[in-house]
Amino acid sequence: MRLALWAALAAWLLVLDDAPARAQEGEEPVAPYVQSDANAGATPIDDPAVLAAFNGRDGINRIVDRTVDLSLEDPQLGPIFQPFDMVRLRRTLKEQFCYLLGGGCTYTGRDMSASHADMGVQTRDFNLLVQHLRTAMREEGVSNRMQNRFLAVLAPMHRDVVQR
Ligand code: HEM
Repeated sequence: MRLALWAALAAWLLVLDDAPARAQEGEEPVAPYVQSDANAGATPIDDPAVLAAFNGRDGINRIVDRTVDLSLEDPQLGPIFQPFDMVRLRRTLKEQFCYLLGGGCTYTGRDMSASHADMGVQTRDFNLLVQHLRTAMREEGVSNRMQNRFLAVLAPMHRDVVQR
């Protein structure tokens, strides 16, 4: 019994320790979760040529902001994104893309299943988002070949984002 209590306390402290202690500036609080780069959902691309093609962290940040802007303006996707905290989404997406593109960032967000649970995202939504991401990458001057290398990393996340 005492052991069980200690185990519960240890597990609780572990969660508290790993989760962001409180909401970041300008963001709404979220329920505690275990923070890990593994939550980013894939292994980073280990090729400096790819990071260079995206114009480093500044380029990645511009691409994320443009993708989110285009998604919010989209009549199909806008209403899906609108109710959520876009300050947090922009920050965690920038971290995730930077991490996956080998930019040396830490991903502090939730995993892809938890992030999209009960949202009802369908394949056509997923494809629209990819289309907006392609536009943003093209505007940043990322070649088709380099775009495809990144999209190949994101594509398997379909199974965790889209609801059947
Ligand atoms: C490969 C594709 C996708 C990736 C990599 C991705 C990535 C992310 C990330 C990193 C977060 C934030 C996690 C957090 O707050 O801890 C998030 C949340 C979110 N995503 Fe996605 N996403 C993808 C596809 C989609 C699609 C297709 C939609 C809808 C059309 C969508 C809608 C949302 C919304 C509304 C949130 C906010 C959820 C919340 O605040 O609770 N995502 N996504």
